[in-house]
Amino acid sequence: MTTFKPGSLMLAPMVELSHRPLRELVAGFGGCDRYYSEMTSAAGYLAGSPFDEWFLDPQPCPEQTVMQLYSPDAQRMALATERLVRERLAQGVAVGGVEANFGCSAPQIERIGGGVKWMKDPEGAAQMIRGMRKAAPDTVLSAKMRLGYEESLEALKNFCTGLVEAGADYLVLHPRLSSEKFRRTGRWAYVRELAATMSVPVIGNGDIRDFKAYNAAMHDYAPGGIMIGREAVRRPWVFALIRGQQENPDFTLQVNLEDTGLRMLSLIRTMLPANFHLSRSRRFFFYYCDNLKFGHHIRYAIQNAPDLDAVKALFRGYFVEAPSERIKNDS
Ligand SMILES: Cc1cc2nc3c(=O)[nH]c(=O)nc-3n(C[C@H](O)[C@H](O)[C@H](O)COP(=O)(O)O)c2cc1C
Repeated sequence: MTTFKPGSLMLAPMVELSHRPLRELVAGFGGCDRYYSEMTSAAGYLAGSPFDEWFLDPQPCPEQTVMQLYSPDAQRMALATERLVRERLAQGVAVGGVEANFGCSAPQIERIGGGVKWMKDPEGAAQMIRGMRKAAPDTVLSAKMRLGYEESLEALKNFCTGLVEAGADYLVLHPRLSSEKFRRTGRWAYVRELAATMSVPVIGNGDIRDFKAYNAAMHDYAPGGIMIGREAVRRPWVFALIRGQQENPDFTLQVNLEDTGLRMLSLIRTMLPANFHLSRSRRFFFYYCDNLKFGHHIRYAIQNAPDLDAVKALFRGYFVEAPSERIKNDS
């Protein structure tokens, strides 16, 4: 069984955001306990999609990085898991884990029967995990989900029990319904119920933005750990802040906002293919600009920038206008 440090911190899987540059940036601030790839199509991977080299790049911490796959087809998931683990072993690269996505509610994924759609088919989902387990007996295997289509603790427990019996080593719950996207706050009471009844760790996820929220969630819902998504894009140093404040409640971190943003651009430029540069930098700055007083102006300008050089010029220009915002003493 997988063991977790109590209160483990994880960087969430996020399409177009959870790539190597973000992990490098987070690791540069001291890192977290477990990282994720973005959700990747099992069918695409099996068909040799040219972009999987970047979607499934496990660096800089392969032994701590989970590869998240999705598919409407359980057998493809098993085949993709087997191939991924076999290829990594042949390259001498560790696999931190493989995860099945049962939570994505994006219409294009749900329509084809992937992501959250599996929550309507608990037996099929368990079958998928069983196949993945068989394909990779020694690899950490996990599943991430939402609450499903309607609130039912019994249905959720039934779904999760099936996954655990099929061989899942841990579960991640983002406790919102499929229809809610990011509306209303997550129903964390479900995390508590699941964590109390499952025989494997249950990780809670959703809306954790600082030490106070982390601490309250650990205390009130007793999950095996906490996963953070959007706030780790806004503040890639959030894990360092949480760890620091665990030791000392007055802990603060001095961050150079300009250097950090420029470093991200440089990582995107050197570690991702050219046709990802603009989309990934726009995605990142969509959140990162929340650190700036007039962030909405620069965010809007960056969303309309024609290329990476223009993004860089706009971002640097902001600090020429507002040099006092360069350094943030964050708590
Ligand atoms: C842009 C974006 C892309 C996402 N992509 C994925 C994904 O690929 N796989 C997944 O399981 N969840 C995905 N999520 C959901 C996050 O992993 C996480 O469950 C959600 O953002 C709630 O956590 P947070 O409040 O800490 O951001 C995505 C979320 C966002 C904002």
